[in-house]
Amino acid sequence: MPNFQDKVVIVTGGAKGIGRAISLSFAKAGAAVLCADVDVKAGEIITQEGQEFAGKLVFVNADVSKASECEKLVGKAVADFGGVDILCNNVGIQPTSSYLPAHELSEEMWDRIINVNLKSRFLMAKYTVPEMKKRGGGVIINTASVQGLQSATGIAPYAASKGGDLSLTRQLALEYAKDNIRVLAVNPGTIETPLALEGSTSPEELRKAAAQQHPIGRIGQPQEVANVILFLASPEASFMTGEFINVDGGLMAKGAWA
Ligand SMILES: NC(=O)c1ccc[n+]([C@@H]2O[C@H](COP(=O)([O-])OP(=O)(O)OC[C@H]3O[C@@H](n4cnc5c(N)ncnc54)[C@H](O)[C@@H]3O)[C@@H](O)[C@H]2O)c1
Repeated sequence: MPNFQDKVVIVTGGAKGIGRAISLSFAKAGAAVLCADVDVKAGEIITQEGQEFAGKLVFVNADVSKASECEKLVGKAVADFGGVDILCNNVGIQPTSSYLPAHELSEEMWDRIINVNLKSRFLMAKYTVPEMKKRGGGVIINTASVQGLQSATGIAPYAASKGGDLSLTRQLALEYAKDNIRVLAVNPGTIETPLALEGSTSPEELRKAAAQQHPIGRIGQPQEVANVILFLASPEASFMTGEFINVDGGLMAKGAWA
């Protein structure tokens, strides 16, 4: 595992699912982690879990779809730890009540999903980039999705947010390459998290469906996504920017006809 001692990391949606694995992995690798989430109960649990590791893990109750809360979160990283080195734009929602054809979807639901999944990326970058510049560089990693590459019916705002995430990754990478800020994305396939489980009728059915869909024959685990994110954030990936990696058990390698 790469060493992130002396690094300051922000993880949005960091208290559960993939974000939890990212937060704990960076803390294990010695970083100071600000784990931002709206779920205070989950925040208390991860704060306890984070105590045993080499780094620090601080929970911050923040709704990152709001500019003022993003600004405060970055301000806290600067005040408590001196800056920000790594931003994991991980937060994402996909409420089951949004599974509708586009013409039946409410404007409120569209805005809610786009604001949490996509606008938060822009807002967090807006407040973090000046701090990264002061430190001579940084890394931004967006948790996008295979649904940014291919799609399914009934998920218009989620798919649009994930396609936007990949576009924004390229855009920010070009904009800030000269500032030594690398910007990357990961595209998970189906990963065993509250988001995926709440979207299925039963966890067992989800695992069975994932085993059939994913060439590797099973659902993914949050840690398997976090492992790739830690690699991308490390100096081992120093010549990578503006790129995405599928962490999907081979899903995107499979043709629709296969
Ligand atoms: N689980 C999957 O199968 C899967 C697949 C592809 C992509 N993804 C993406 O991975 C990322 C993480 O997903 P997950 O499955 O771990 O989800 P999750 O629901 O398990 O965890 C998301 C976390 O975000 C928090 N959150 C929600 N709204 C917030 C807000 N406004 N501000 C701050 N925190 C907020 C939640 O409380 C939760 O702790 C998302 O971007 C998701 O789209 C997940």
